[in-house]
Amino acid sequence: MLRTRFTEEFGIEHPIVCGGMTAVGTAELISAVANAGALGFLTALTQSTPAALAEEIARCRSMTDRTFGVNLTILPTIDPVPYDEYRDAIIDSGITVVETAGANPAAHVAAFKAAGVKVIHKAVAVRHAMKAQSLGVDAVSIDGFECAGHPGSDDVPGLVLIPSAAQKVDVPLIASGGFATGRGLVAALALGASAINMGTRFVASAEAPVHGNVKQQIVANDERSTVLVFRELGNTARVARNTVSEEIARRGAEPGATFSDVAGLASGARARQRVLTDGDVEGGMWWASQAQGLISSVETCAQIVTDIMNEAAEAIGHLDVARAPLNSTTKGCPNTP
Ligand SMILES: Cc1cc2nc3c(=O)[nH]c(=O)nc-3n(C[C@H](O)[C@H](O)[C@H](O)COP(=O)(O)O)c2cc1C
Repeated sequence: MLRTRFTEEFGIEHPIVCGGMTAVGTAELISAVANAGALGFLTALTQSTPAALAEEIARCRSMTDRTFGVNLTILPTIDPVPYDEYRDAIIDSGITVVETAGANPAAHVAAFKAAGVKVIHKAVAVRHAMKAQSLGVDAVSIDGFECAGHPGSDDVPGLVLIPSAAQKVDVPLIASGGFATGRGLVAALALGASAINMGTRFVASAEAPVHGNVKQQIVANDERSTVLVFRELGNTARVARNTVSEEIARRGAEPGATFSDVAGLASGARARQRVLTDGDVEGGMWWASQAQGLISSVETCAQIVTDIMNEAAEAIGHLDVARAPLNSTTKGCPNTP
């Protein structure tokens, strides 16, 4: 049992979060994360309308009596998204915690706060974390360069990004990107965070609503099995390495390339059907992080959380052992000749 500012202020048993994941963050996964004592986020825009989101929230609530939240990802889209209506569906459904991501959450924070909803904003840069804090968010998730999804364009890994954010932000900090183990959790706490956020580790869970081939591919992959795409298009994204993502990266790097040169290959609808549903891991672009190198089996969410907490306790125990000889030298080390 680890008590941190996150567990205390959010009322969650373990300092572990499952971030929003388009097409993956549905009631099956998020209720399992909640039942495991962690905090998971349904992904609002996975549901085609605000009414469908309200139904998904109700479905998740029928599968767990523990706290879960909703992720609202604000990204530039070709078709306008009714963000305000999604936000109202979240509030009206009695959700108590949201994860905002993708852009400045200013337009939504005041409404959430007025309704008593806690806001965790996911940022990829210290300056964005500070901005979110100034808007009144309750916690900041800071996503290092290792992460799946959109790591931004500064390329700062967690080892520097997390303690740097911890120096500048007073609200609880959640370390994200590349976490999958108890050792990682202990490292995150040492760097100044009070929880870890994971995406890829929970995709390789029994309850994630994706084809088993994807989960097994994550297990087979290693830390080099990602590609950065959309770099030159100003919207860097880290995805699993396959022939499709390598081709997207190649086309995107050509002089004068635009999004239309890669849109067909990068289509979310294509990946949802061919990869996540049919299980063809070479069939489209799908999201995964460098954490793949740390994942060696598909487990239930309960087992994932238990293993991380046990490994964290063991790692903290090892820190105690490492401290003992240091203390004993002050009294005269028995091994000293
Ligand atoms: C399949 C997948 C889909 C994701 N979709 C979203 C999303 O829609 N919105 C969002 O804010 N983050 C999204 N993310 C990022 C995760 O919430 C989380 O920040 C990230 O996975 C952390 O890095 P990790 O994969 O190394 O644990 C996604 C990640 C994955 C693996």
